[in-house]
Amino acid sequence: MSISPSRWTLRTKLLASVLALFTVVMLVTSALTVLETRRYLTAQLEADLTAARGRVDVDHPDGADHDGDGRAEPQRRGPVGAPGGGDVLVLGLTPDGEVATDSSGTALNAVVNTSTADDTLDAAQVLAVSEAATTGSSPVRVDVGGDVGTYLISTQTLSDGSRLVVGVSTAPVDELLARLLAVVVGGTAVGLALVGVGGTIVIRRSLAPLDRVAATARRVSALELGSGQVTLGERVPTADADGHTEVGQVGLAINTMLDNVESALHARQESETQVRQFVADASHELRTPLASIRGYAELTRRETEPVPPTVTHAIGRVESEALRMQELVEDLLLLARLDSGRPLQREPVDLSLLAVNAVSDAHAAAPDHTWELDLPESPVEVPGDQARLHQILANLLANARTHTPAGTRVVTRVRPEGTLVRVSVTDDGPGVPETLQPKVFERFTRGDDARVRANGSTGLGLSIVAAVGQAHGGSVEVSSRAGSTTFSVLLPGT
Ligand SMILES: Nc1ncnc2c1ncn2[C@@H]1O[C@H](COP(=O)(O)OP(=O)(O)OP(=O)(O)O)[C@@H](O)[C@H]1O
Ligand SMILES: [Mg+2]
Repeated sequence: MSISPSRWTLRTKLLASVLALFTVVMLVTSALTVLETRRYLTAQLEADLTAARGRVDVDHPDGADHDGDGRAEPQRRGPVGAPGGGDVLVLGLTPDGEVATDSSGTALNAVVNTSTADDTLDAAQVLAVSEAATTGSSPVRVDVGGDVGTYLISTQTLSDGSRLVVGVSTAPVDELLARLLAVVVGGTAVGLALVGVGGTIVIRRSLAPLDRVAATARRVSALELGSGQVTLGERVPTADADGHTEVGQVGLAINTMLDNVESALHARQESETQVRQFVADASHELRTPLASIRGYAELTRRETEPVPPTVTHAIGRVESEALRMQELVEDLLLLARLDSGRPLQREPVDLSLLAVNAVSDAHAAAPDHTWELDLPESPVEVPGDQARLHQILANLLANARTHTPAGTRVVTRVRPEGTLVRVSVTDDGPGVPETLQPKVFERFTRGDDARVRANGSTGLGLSIVAAVGQAHGGSVEVSSRAGSTTFSVLLPGT
């Protein structure tokens, strides 16, 4: 399965680019070198051919006495070898294409200066040369065949119509070019391997800081910022946060961002603390006047002088509303204290006993409900704050009492579950409305029916259950449908 280049890693992309660039540069340079060398050597070969031709007596190749002075014309034949040292071919052809002979009857058919010995062309080779030997044109290459090889030949027609072919071997040039090509191809292959290995090492080294920056970012993303943690210990190492390099700029930007986030978290926590403190202070301050209101109301009730019934009723309302307000203030104060993380008491609390007491209180408050207890044989203890744990049960049982009709059966259970203890209250009432369930543990969440409002419910009961449970290191759960509603608190055991 191949991955499309757009999804390659940066490393692969860089390496592929470097290799591609290297290959292109090598190809262009090599092609230019080979072509230029070939052009130069061919020119050299043509010069050799001209020089070789000059050593053969064009008009009197046979060495006969043409001017009748009794002396044979100088043949200027030797040494015929090309100045470059390559082999030279000399072939005389009669007008009808036969091999010509010189005055001494020697056939004008020779390959001279070979490394072995002078050679002559056989009939097929003579035919190959004579076919290519067209006069007047520039030198042509001809593959003579056999072990003679390729020659660059030039042809001249003599006065009697016979042709003189002179050629120089292209073998040294071809050999040189082949060797040059081999060197270039081999060099490119070795270069590619070196660039590949070197490039991989250099790229890996250069990108290593990026890996470290990414690792820091990953560690930061794994931090649970929502849990109230405000000090971010993670930073990109100083060496990788140097603004002079590209990766360093990323590192620097991440560090600056983390500084910003940290100070924002600090500021948010500070303002949250202020709000909590304000709620706690306000609740605390309200306690005294509320106690006074209730005290005075009670005093008025004890009045022996006759009081009009409307006044008695009004005073009664004042007293009950003050009581409700006092409960609300206590709840707010408790939540503010739990929010501030104030440590709770940690002493062994007998949950079984707590459940027995809470259920008997509930029974007294609502005798029309059926109250049941389901406790394990031996008492179950958890470390915690007795008064707060009692409040959990009291709130859950109060809900089972106030949000269900008379006759509802309510079962209170305490069950060890591994290292945890589950305390649950189950009723067969109408259940928590489905829309309410996801946020039932949030503050001021309450069913908005007339019954609930008439009860003077505030919607803080379950949020206190959740806050106390969490302050003990536990968690809360709800599952509810018509006929079966269970609220549970899971607390860590001893
Ligand atoms: N056992 C239950 N059966 C049906 N509905 C319930 C039950 N327990 C809670 N609820 C619903 O959940 C809402 C929130 O309960 P919560 O205890 O937080 O507030 P409250 O009982 O309304 O007020 P408070 O407890 O502060 O006096 C209730 O208003 C009620 O609608
Ligand atoms: Mg309640």
